[in-house]
Amino acid sequence: MAIDLTTDSTLVDPALFREVLSHYPTGVVLVTAIASDGEPVGMLVGTFTSVSLDPPLVAFLPRRNSETFARLRTATSFCVNVMAADQADLSRRFAGKEAGKFRGVDWHPSPAGAPVIDGTIASIDCTTESITASGDHYVVIGSVTDVRVHRSGSPLVFLRGAFGTVTATATATATATATATATATATG
Ligand SMILES: Cc1cc2nc3c(=O)[nH]c(=O)nc-3n(C[C@H](O)[C@H](O)[C@H](O)COP(=O)(O)O)c2cc1C
Repeated sequence: MAIDLTTDSTLVDPALFREVLSHYPTGVVLVTAIASDGEPVGMLVGTFTSVSLDPPLVAFLPRRNSETFARLRTATSFCVNVMAADQADLSRRFAGKEAGKFRGVDWHPSPAGAPVIDGTIASIDCTTESITASGDHYVVIGSVTDVRVHRSGSPLVFLRGAFGTVTATATATATATATATATATATG
């Protein structure tokens, strides 16, 4: 008989669930938009993934109680900024709750008008296809409208509560080495 974890949360201890999942490395993206008040908004996200090639779809999963996503969803389009290994400090800022996160940050508008942060590795413009509640998160599906690579370099990754990076050791294989530095304690 299949066990439905979504209806019986007592089956898995939440702290253990979080600890075990922290062993899974994720990429780090900054999802940006121009909110309905005309101000730029950005949210650091580790749950970004590609969904479909034809049609091109991507997804990310914001918390349902995220104040930043409440502002971000007032826009009809958003831009996914793939963060570089040297953007850890900037990423920490966008994981926080302080106002004025864009102060002093250089960016230019994507084709859809959302902020592309200077120094980002790649950007993916999307229009919001759907927002579905699942547990304490939303699943946001984005329909891709523009894709660009801005620079070469290693991406920022998050593993066991710390930022690090990955470096491909051979271009034609999936082999990669990961180096997680212990300089960050932020969690998703
Ligand atoms: C590496 C990393 C990954 C994160 N991934 C997510 C995520 O996928 N979904 C989410 O809702 N918040 C995620 N967060 C937290 C957000 O950055 C969030 O914007 C931040 O905590 C600000 O809080 P607010 O969304 O309530 O305004 C992540 C934080 C870090 C450091």
